[in-house]
Amino acid sequence: MSHAEDNAGTRRDFLYYATAGAGVVTAGAAIWPLVNQMNPSADVQALSSIFVDIGGVEVGSQLTVNFLGKPVFIRRRTPEEIEDARAVALADLTIDRQSRNPNRPGTDASDENRALDDAGEWLVMTGVCTHLGCVPLGNGAGDFNGWFCPCHGSHYDTSGRIRRGPAPENLHIPVVRFINDTTIQLG
Ligand code: FES
Repeated sequence: MSHAEDNAGTRRDFLYYATAGAGVVTAGAAIWPLVNQMNPSADVQALSSIFVDIGGVEVGSQLTVNFLGKPVFIRRRTPEEIEDARAVALADLTIDRQSRNPNRPGTDASDENRALDDAGEWLVMTGVCTHLGCVPLGNGAGDFNGWFCPCHGSHYDTSGRIRRGPAPENLHIPVVRFINDTTIQLG
């Protein structure tokens, strides 16, 4: 192979790769607007709804999942916790009397309006303190045996209702429903 042919070969290779590269870029540019248009709905759909298997959650324990960047507490309450929550009179909820439950909009904060099921075994809440956004401690924490936010001392009862401290609202409940006995859908 002569020097000239060698150079030509190199040039052809170079041109080939440059063309291929341009082709890839062009294809990418052509595909991008399509992908871009599809992204929001695909994205939102993927993020705005998740299924959670709650079959393994024992009575008296809590599963925490990440949903839309926030922790969600899924608690399977004991009979005592349910009883405590349901024994509270609305008049005793001096800080917030709203259910904060989009699944039952506009309802009061009685436990029946916050629990996921009629028997009250399942309580699903966004685990973000309504004061300044810390993640409260669970498993019977605080003066009302529910959740306690140590950041500035907010006490939530076994229904996640604010009972003492600076937090202005009950722990919020996300959009949630049962899909079957052991699966819930968030969002
Ligand atoms: S952030 Fe929870 S008490 Fe302030």
